[in-house]
Amino acid sequence: MTSRFRRGVSWLGCAAVLALVAGCAREPGNGSGGTADGGVVHVVCGGTEEWCAATTAQFSETTGVRADFVRLSSGEALARIKAGKGNAEFDVWYGGPADGYAAGAAEGMLEAYASPNADAIPAKYKDASGLWTGVYVGALGFCSNPKLLREAGIEVPDSWADLLDSKLAKDVGIAHPSTSGTAYTALWTQVLLVGGDQNKALEYMRRLHPNVLQYTKSGAAPAQMTARGEVAVGVIFSHDCVAAKEAGFPDLVVSFPSEGTGYETGGVALVSGAKNPESGRKFVDWALTVEAQEIGPTVKSYQFPTNPGAKVSEKVVDLSTIRLVEYDAVAAGAAKTALNRRFDAEVAQAPKS
Ligand code: G6P
Repeated sequence: MTSRFRRGVSWLGCAAVLALVAGCAREPGNGSGGTADGGVVHVVCGGTEEWCAATTAQFSETTGVRADFVRLSSGEALARIKAGKGNAEFDVWYGGPADGYAAGAAEGMLEAYASPNADAIPAKYKDASGLWTGVYVGALGFCSNPKLLREAGIEVPDSWADLLDSKLAKDVGIAHPSTSGTAYTALWTQVLLVGGDQNKALEYMRRLHPNVLQYTKSGAAPAQMTARGEVAVGVIFSHDCVAAKEAGFPDLVVSFPSEGTGYETGGVALVSGAKNPESGRKFVDWALTVEAQEIGPTVKSYQFPTNPGAKVSEKVVDLSTIRLVEYDAVAAGAAKTALNRRFDAEVAQAPKS
């Protein structure tokens, strides 16, 4: 059957049931890339804007399937996916910490898909039932502006305790965990560092609060704040600091907390009720390939690739040299909504715009 004919059948089928149900789940289109659906994939993308643009463009070039994306921070992406329930705006969620995916999966927002390419990805980087699969790993760290630290009379921070120094009053940048996956990684890291006690973790965040100049929406924004000299230290994924160094701020210093730090497994998943499920599955397949995972360093995204065949840039942090907490994305995801609600109420309200 030609793809044109298949398309005709699927669209006719939709039209036939249109009178019976409110709306057609499939998106009519040109079936580009030999797909029977709309031949397009709408991606809600959680990596940097540049990474999202480069990867979706390369996907289209390689597969012939059109792709577009909207860059949203983790909490916002999940909110938009939920808002689209029954009339999905996106086919695929790509990039951003897996705890957001786990939270979404628990609410039925993701569709399990066992991509054949997921076999290559180590078990620790994927959900066992195929609800999401990891495409990269990033470690949380501190990004410091040495000039401002000198002025404040303090050393480069190398512990979470260092960030509480009153000399850093209003001199720390961190995102808000309700919107940002980066900031939620920082919050859940505190929970793990105190043996799972969420009260104590929130207590640490309350103590940090006087030192926080601003809670940003996006996790990487404090890199720019640190680079511009608005704050002395940003709590961000370390690769976002490396990117800022490369973007013209070579003096920025990356450090890691000695107590242990959290890490993200950046995910990819098919959205429940996707209007272009075949194109979406093609996207998931492709995101797990060596080709897809070697794009990051070409656009200053230095996460560790989950595909063991992908070349690792020397700018990627060697995860074996830093102390990592045992970050379980599923447990972190299960706690996410309630813990963020507590953060909103007990530490700081989520940014409005
Ligand atoms: C940046 C990082 C990604 C991370 C993402 C999380 O784009 O490079 O590795 O997944 O931030 O974004 P968020 O805004 O949700 O913290």
